[in-house]
Amino acid sequence: MKRIEKVIQGYHYVGFMLVIGVIMVVVFFGGDDSGIRFNIGKETSMVEDYWFKDCDFFNGRWVYDNRSRPLYKEKECSFMMDNYSCEKLGRKDFKYQSWRWQPHGCELPRFNGTALLEKLRDKRVVFVGDSLGQNHWVSFLCLIDSWILEPSHKVVEWHGPLIKFRASEYNVSIDFYWEPFLVESNCDDPINHKILDRVVKIEGIERHAKQWINADMLIFDSYRWWLDVDITLVWGSFENPNKTIVESRRVVPYEMALRTWSNWLETHLDRKKTRIFFTSPSPGHREGGDWGKTTGENCYNVTEPIVEERPWGKGSDFDLMRATESMVEDLEKKGFNIKLLNITHLSQYRKDGHLSIYKRHLVSPTKLELANPAPYADCVHWCLPGVPDVWSEILYAYIRYKI
Ligand SMILES: *[C@@H]1O[C@H](CO)[C@@H](O)[C@H](O)[C@H]1NC(C)=O
Ligand SMILES: *[C@@H]1O[C@H](CO)[C@@H](O)[C@H](O)[C@H]1NC(C)=O
Ligand SMILES: *[C@@H]1O[C@H](CO)[C@@H](O)[C@H](O)[C@H]1NC(C)=O
Ligand SMILES: *[C@@H]1O[C@H](CO)[C@@H](O)[C@H](O)[C@H]1NC(C)=O
Ligand SMILES: *[C@@H]1O[C@H](CO)[C@@H](O)[C@H](O)[C@H]1NC(C)=O
Ligand SMILES: *[C@@H]1O[C@H](CO)[C@@H](O)[C@H](O)[C@H]1NC(C)=O
Ligand SMILES: *[C@@H]1O[C@H](CO)[C@@H](O)[C@H](O)[C@H]1NC(C)=O
Repeated sequence: MKRIEKVIQGYHYVGFMLVIGVIMVVVFFGGDDSGIRFNIGKETSMVEDYWFKDCDFFNGRWVYDNRSRPLYKEKECSFMMDNYSCEKLGRKDFKYQSWRWQPHGCELPRFNGTALLEKLRDKRVVFVGDSLGQNHWVSFLCLIDSWILEPSHKVVEWHGPLIKFRASEYNVSIDFYWEPFLVESNCDDPINHKILDRVVKIEGIERHAKQWINADMLIFDSYRWWLDVDITLVWGSFENPNKTIVESRRVVPYEMALRTWSNWLETHLDRKKTRIFFTSPSPGHREGGDWGKTTGENCYNVTEPIVEERPWGKGSDFDLMRATESMVEDLEKKGFNIKLLNITHLSQYRKDGHLSIYKRHLVSPTKLELANPAPYADCVHWCLPGVPDVWSEILYAYIRYKI
């Protein structure tokens, strides 16, 4: 199939007839969930091999589809964490679980956990980043969960900032590593990181990187924590810095951290072995003004996505986004196998998908807060099942059909 695909890739439209030896191959895009069909000789067969060279997964629309969505139930996912389980924490509207992402002009392949795990056999995948990366990782595991029946064959273990998932039958590891700034910081404790004066060791990455550098696949995200102004940057050690600056323009330290990160990859990563994804910013919905509401409103009590297609609003920092994009491009030019998971725009529609007030509370809300809940709503993280499942479906498509 690889050979056939290579030949086909030379042609830009569908329905083109090719003769390869004695085999005639006709390719055309099918309907709903068919991907691509090949006619081999006189026999029509649905091949598992799906191909999406000309498809832009990131450009599309949300379709309400409560027959095929959600892909799993919140209660049934053995990896669900309280911090994403909106239903358990009291959310009563469930429409947010049943939206399917429909790219223009093609379909996302149907998720098949067995095929995924077979593809990843003997491999180690690591999600590296902040709680949105963790949100994504939990979604990915929930999608896989029901495909492994024997509970003892799917085990999660905590080792400080590293949470390891192993699917033992396949010898697959899918880990999450807590590293919110990519570089070292005083927020590197996976549990106690609610620190207001954030200090970032802008050239320090080794302590983190040695935990994931040998992986076969890395999925990075680092964005949200940089939105804070006045981050202190230090050189040398945390205890005895030889230089300290307080930087209040977001993009400057962000670019410095990306530089530290990419330099590390250039000198230490095996670019033949390791596939990299970088997740673009996950948008927040803290400002009702972005979708025509009055000031003070946010994602609280929002049950519908934005349906009309339109350019995105303010929920993301464009400078940081561009910094990520150009760093990814840069590494691509240098021969890295890297791809931007461009989820910003598609997630921007989903003002209904956030935790809102159905979140795990470190401190119980006060009476005053309960009377006026909007200000304490979480409009950053996402309920599961929900939006990150689409990020996972797209990641699945790449893993299965592009690697
Ligand atoms: C990300 O996707 C959106 C929507 O399709 C598109 O407008 C934008 O150009 C994409 N960004 C990149 C860097 O590919
Ligand atoms: C799906 O949605 C339709 C229309 O909103 C509703 O009538 C139907 O009961 C829903 N089905 C399920 C299984 O929730
Ligand atoms: C999932 O993939 C496996 C392995 O490729 C295949 O045997 C199985 O039929 C697929 N299952 C479904 C429901 O498509
Ligand atoms: C399991 O996978 C790891 C790589 O992740 C590899 O080093 C090891 O040899 C594999 N074990 C077996 C028993 O195949
Ligand atoms: C989710 O829970 C874990 C462990 O309980 C915690 O470390 C993490 O910060 C939580 N994430 C969010 C977004 O609350
Ligand atoms: C601070 O120390 C680190 C190593 O500890 C060194 O790499 C760096 O160049 C020093 N920076 C300055 C400004 O002296
Ligand atoms: C939530 O929104 C609905 C209409 O969309 C409104 O009737 C209701 O009062 C709102 N509830 C709260 C507590 O704001």
